[in-house]
Amino acid sequence: MTAPIPLAGGSAAQGSLYERIGPQVLHDLVTRFYTLVPQDELLRALFPADLSETARKQEAFLTGFLGGPPLYFQQYGPPRLRARHMPFAIAPAQARAWLGCMRRAMQATPGLHPDDATEMYQALEKVAAHMVNSA
Ligand code: HEM
Repeated sequence: MTAPIPLAGGSAAQGSLYERIGPQVLHDLVTRFYTLVPQDELLRALFPADLSETARKQEAFLTGFLGGPPLYFQQYGPPRLRARHMPFAIAPAQARAWLGCMRRAMQATPGLHPDDATEMYQALEKVAAHMVNSA
C-alpha cells in the first residue's frame, strides 16, 4: 500500500467512518487495542514492550484510513504498510490474533456504534490479510 485508502462513502450512513466514529472514540479504541496486544502470546513476541509510539502511529494511520485527515502520511510519509511489516513474521495465525484483539477492543469501546465497528472491521480484515508474509 502506498497511500492511505479513504473509506468514505459507500454506505447509507452519512459522512466518512472517521466522522461517524470521531477522534475520541478512535483514540479509546486504539488505546484499548494496545492493552490487549501484549496479552496475546502470538503478538507479544512481535511488538516492543513500550507500545506508546506504536499506538500513536496506528491512531494517525487509522485517522486517514477511515477518511479523516492523512495524519500518518503528514507525520511519517507513505505508510508502505506491507513493507514496514516485513521485518516481522506474520502468518495467518498472527493476522487472526491481531484481528481478535481488534474485535475485542471494538466490543469494549463505549460509543462505537456496532454498524461502524462492522464496517471498520471488514476493512481491517483486508489489510490484515495483506500483511501476511509467512506461512
Ligand atoms: C496482520 C497482523 C498484524 C501484525 C502481526 C502487526 C504487527 C505490527 C508490528 C510488530 C509493528 C511494529 C511495532 C513497532 O515496532 O512499533 C506494527 C506496526 C504498525 N502496524 Fe501492524 N500488524 C498487523 C496488522 C496491521 C494492520 C491491519 C494495520 C492497519 C490497519 C497495521 C498498521 C500498523 C502501523 C500503522 C504500524 C506503525 C508503522 C510504523 O512504524 O510507522 N498493522 N505492526
